[in-house]
Amino acid sequence: MQPVIDYLKQNESRSIDQLCEYLRFPSVSAQPQHKDDLHACANWVAEHFRHIGLEARVCPTEGHPIVIAKTPRSTVATHSTKRSRPHFLIYGHYDVQPPEPFELWKSPPFEPRIEGRAIFARGACDNKGQNLAHIKAIEAYLKTGTPLPCDITFVIEGEEEVGSHSLSSFLKANREELLCDAIVISDTGMPSPQYPALTYALRGIVSFELTLHGPSRDLHSGIFGGTVDNPAMALCQLLGKLRDKNGRVAVPGFYDDVQPLSAYERKQFARLPFKESDYRKLLGVPKLFGEKGFTPIEQRSARPTLEINGLTSGYQGEGSKTIVPSWARAKITTRLVPDQKPEKIVKLLQKHIKSICPPTVKFELKAGHGAEPYLVSPTGPQAQAALRALKLSFEREPVLMREGGSIPIVNVFKKILGADSLMLGLALPDDNAHSPNEKFNLDCFIKGQLMSAYLWTELSARS
Ligand code: BES
Ligand code: MN
Repeated sequence: MQPVIDYLKQNESRSIDQLCEYLRFPSVSAQPQHKDDLHACANWVAEHFRHIGLEARVCPTEGHPIVIAKTPRSTVATHSTKRSRPHFLIYGHYDVQPPEPFELWKSPPFEPRIEGRAIFARGACDNKGQNLAHIKAIEAYLKTGTPLPCDITFVIEGEEEVGSHSLSSFLKANREELLCDAIVISDTGMPSPQYPALTYALRGIVSFELTLHGPSRDLHSGIFGGTVDNPAMALCQLLGKLRDKNGRVAVPGFYDDVQPLSAYERKQFARLPFKESDYRKLLGVPKLFGEKGFTPIEQRSARPTLEINGLTSGYQGEGSKTIVPSWARAKITTRLVPDQKPEKIVKLLQKHIKSICPPTVKFELKAGHGAEPYLVSPTGPQAQAALRALKLSFEREPVLMREGGSIPIVNVFKKILGADSLMLGLALPDDNAHSPNEKFNLDCFIKGQLMSAYLWTELSARS
């Protein structure tokens, strides 16, 4: 193990240079104009794998390609021979969220900049920096000739930020090859570098687009205003009815399947570091708001929500334009917790919106991507091994946490491969994932490499 640790130490600055290279690809999966950039980025990842001694391929899909890379296998595993060694998948994504609004970035999103102990770029923490940390750990094993105690297959996809559509069918088609003892994912967060964390639950998600149609064209608001409903106003009134004054989602049946939080879990949450004033400052809000009866940590990770993600209608240019807009649209997502089911939530929302939509406008509700919530017991031997690896690398007692974000593929891994995901996030709360000035802390990057190095030894001893 010592040579692996020494190698990582000696190659710190080189690994940071390589992270910069990785971050220069504008691999924005949601934007069709970046299709070639996603391809180029996938090729760079595959080439990087080959360079450090893995067998890698770029798998085309209907959407963006998936990169598969395997460590050299000591024994050839076929259908008939039982695997002699544990096999783990490392999952990550090379696609990133759109960088807009550009004007809020202190430096261009795809020109990585290092300031202090942070590297700024879109995708820095979500997720390029986090998956590269694992790649560097495996490189250290291979380059120092240290035998790996397990077989490892990397699955690095390009559609995580848009719902991981191609990966599901890819997993089905390549199930045999990908069967494994567990999936390791660093695509979540930790409270601070003093609190390394194992995440044992994620929220699920359903997305919607709600459009209210009014007059067949924008109308003169002086000539016609007062005789027809204003779709923007109708939309605001309708949306206002979706949340009550206690911060609860006001859709009948929405909470029916929500598992109550156990006293034990609530006690654990209360032990996580949290200071309301710091949190408020970090987010720039005058006062926090959330579901009554729950702490902010519970609200953001273990309770369901409904959010408006975007709101569009009428004239948005400079000056004024006196119209009654023809339509108004809201992009909405709900975050789900166990045992809420995305399909059921879609139906409840459709039914409710239909019942409260005024007859003066026509509504159109399109359901988009969805993912089930995820919850796994943190007491098993694999979780214990992960906690040891966190402690060895960060030299702090790790904590257990639930996260509010979603990684749609974890439930699919469970269904198709029958394996649980170990989520060892390296992103900090102020890393600005999905926001302007996204960053990744370089200490988390370096310690994350060490964590991954320890992990394989710890995991393989128990699997
Ligand atoms: N890495 C995040 C998910 C995440 C972030 C989980 C922080 C827990 C804590 C992931 O890349 C992401 O942003 N997922 C999307 C999924 C959606 C587009 C289906 C999300 O949660 O919004
Ligand atoms: Mn993300």
